[in-house]
Amino acid sequence: MLRTHHCGELNMTHIGQQVTLSGWVAKRRDLGSLTFVDLRDRYGITQLSFNEEYNSTLLEEARKLGREFVVQATGKVTERSNKNAKLPTGEIEIIVEKLTVLNPSLTPPFTIEEDTDGGDDIRMQFRYLDLRRDNVRQNMMLRHQMARYTRQYLDSKGFIEVETPVLIKSTPEGARDFIVPSRMNPGQFYALPQSPQTFKQLLMVSGFDRYYQIVKCFRDEDLRADRQPEFTQIDCEMSFVEQEDILNLFEGLVQYLFKEVKGIDIGQLPRMTFDEAMHRYGNDKPDTRFGMEFQYLKPLTGDRNFQVFDTAECVLGICAKGCGNYTRKQLDELTEWVKRPQIGARGLVYVLCQPDGSYKSSVDKFYNQDDLEKWANLCGAEKGDLILVLSGNTRTVQKQMSELRLEMGQRLGYRDKSRFSALWVIDFPLLEQDEESGKWHAMHHPFTSPKPEDNGKLESDPGAVRANAYDMVINGTEVGGGSIRIFNKDLQARMFKRIGFTEEEARNQFGFLMSAFEYGAPPHGGIAFGFDRLCSIFGGADGIRDFIAFPKNNQGRDMMIDAPSVIDHRQLKELGIKIQ
Ligand code: AMO
Repeated sequence: MLRTHHCGELNMTHIGQQVTLSGWVAKRRDLGSLTFVDLRDRYGITQLSFNEEYNSTLLEEARKLGREFVVQATGKVTERSNKNAKLPTGEIEIIVEKLTVLNPSLTPPFTIEEDTDGGDDIRMQFRYLDLRRDNVRQNMMLRHQMARYTRQYLDSKGFIEVETPVLIKSTPEGARDFIVPSRMNPGQFYALPQSPQTFKQLLMVSGFDRYYQIVKCFRDEDLRADRQPEFTQIDCEMSFVEQEDILNLFEGLVQYLFKEVKGIDIGQLPRMTFDEAMHRYGNDKPDTRFGMEFQYLKPLTGDRNFQVFDTAECVLGICAKGCGNYTRKQLDELTEWVKRPQIGARGLVYVLCQPDGSYKSSVDKFYNQDDLEKWANLCGAEKGDLILVLSGNTRTVQKQMSELRLEMGQRLGYRDKSRFSALWVIDFPLLEQDEESGKWHAMHHPFTSPKPEDNGKLESDPGAVRANAYDMVINGTEVGGGSIRIFNKDLQARMFKRIGFTEEEARNQFGFLMSAFEYGAPPHGGIAFGFDRLCSIFGGADGIRDFIAFPKNNQGRDMMIDAPSVIDHRQLKELGIKIQ
């Protein structure tokens, strides 16, 4: 080995020992006749000390070391005169007796420290250097722990990990597929899996009973902070279970991860129906770290000749605690905020609850103090609070108010990343209707079963059919979702028909599954967690990128290897692909 110890382990108990360390030069400080070098590796930082009196040749060599040089140093562990309480190795230093440069380095394009001076693009381009930074590496360590404990838990519950193929046929998760041309079958293409959904169901037909896989999935969709084109799922499936069994078992997984990885007991997860989540928070993934729940004001707003509210289907209010002192400028700014195209509200009505118990509102012309007091009572607003009101079509105004609630929660510091609030959202609608085409499509995916009691409404009232589907939500992020599957061939055929597949299309795309269902498919169901999302929430971060070793940027590009890229004409020809 090129070292006797690593850079994070030496302390007062090693004083007097002769050691050899290897690592990267994080920092060099020249002070008169002394030079100090911070030597870094995965485990920490240790100070190397060079002294003119002790060895002037070595001092000269040390002064030639640049940042990120790879060096090997041998010397004695000595107590430091100037201790650094922040470092685990801060009480000692190595008085170097032998120094070898194992490899020099160019000056890195940004400083490799927690607070780096490098912007996003440059750090993505030199990701291998970014990964040397302690905080980014810690994220990778967290990811490793999460995977380890996930395997431990699932293993203890009898799950077996099975790998499913990556070169497959289109899967039904609703995003676009990434496709791969086949040289041996010109003009034909594989699709990369959006999830292993169909394969895990087939494994249940095979009798595997409990399957899991920590697996890469690929979706060609618009990217956001919590979406990457290739991401990882903890994908699971079980046979002979009902929804309740799955909720309990995977609630157990998340409790176990919180306990082992963060030392937190998150307790039992509350359950909320989709309808309730929409009613209270306007969102099927509510951030329940804070209240600020919706209040329905329409019954209190009629007969005052305020056209906006009179013609609205729904008038919604929320109470922002302690914001009753908002200035005109702040209120105008908030109004502009809700009017941005991303939110799309036409305006914002406000009521300031004054310290003297009176109300000042933007609709004082229409509503008197008694009216406003009723609103305040319903919203739970007290002196010093602010009521924000939006109106319009119910679904639209719920969505807009949900955004405003999250924004106010953010401004008021309620969305603390070190606090965790997890819940199950259950009873999702089975189908969603496309506003433009009027077509119905599966809200989760076409293998999700309807609740038996709603089964009969599949043709007559599709919008009213609820699914045996569930999502796990933590801090306003959907971290996982799944369902009890259809395992009956005829019901599956009805579902395909309902979502507009002709029999031929269904057979072409999913014939293998339909056939498998004719050979004794057990009742089954499952769930998949977004592993990157779970890691980023545990790590208290906004996005998933820093929890992926080599992520893509917002244009889906890998800046480091420069992909995607143009391919050679010859290669295209071989694949039988013509580009205009
Ligand atoms: P679903 O499509 O809900 O279900 O995906 C499961 C979980 O995967 C995560 N996720 C993503 N994470 C990062 N980037 C993305 N682009 C991305 N897309 C999804 C989310 C989501 O909750 N086969 C079903 C599961 C099942 O029914 O068992 C499925 O894939 O956290």
